[in-house]
Amino acid sequence: MFKFGSGPAMLIHQDDDTWTALSAVCTHLGCTPSYQPDKKIIYCPCHGGIYDPRTGANISGPPPKPLTEYKVRIANGKVTVSRT
Ligand code: FES
Repeated sequence: MFKFGSGPAMLIHQDDDTWTALSAVCTHLGCTPSYQPDKKIIYCPCHGGIYDPRTGANISGPPPKPLTEYKVRIANGKVTVSRT
């Protein structure tokens, strides 16, 4: 988890060694969902919303749309996250 602009975001290291950066602001009512690596889901504790940790797609519960995905670049051992 990290702060990105004015809100929280999450950076997930996938099993295939790729990275995914997503907004951590639930698209339902704005709670903070978190990655649950044991279940391979992103879970929002407020109303049980579930998102796909690779794409941010809303897959269960009340969230009406996906989490915003950010661009991840890896260079010289540094991870950079940006909106574009
Ligand atoms: Fe996340 Fe309602 S605020 S499921």
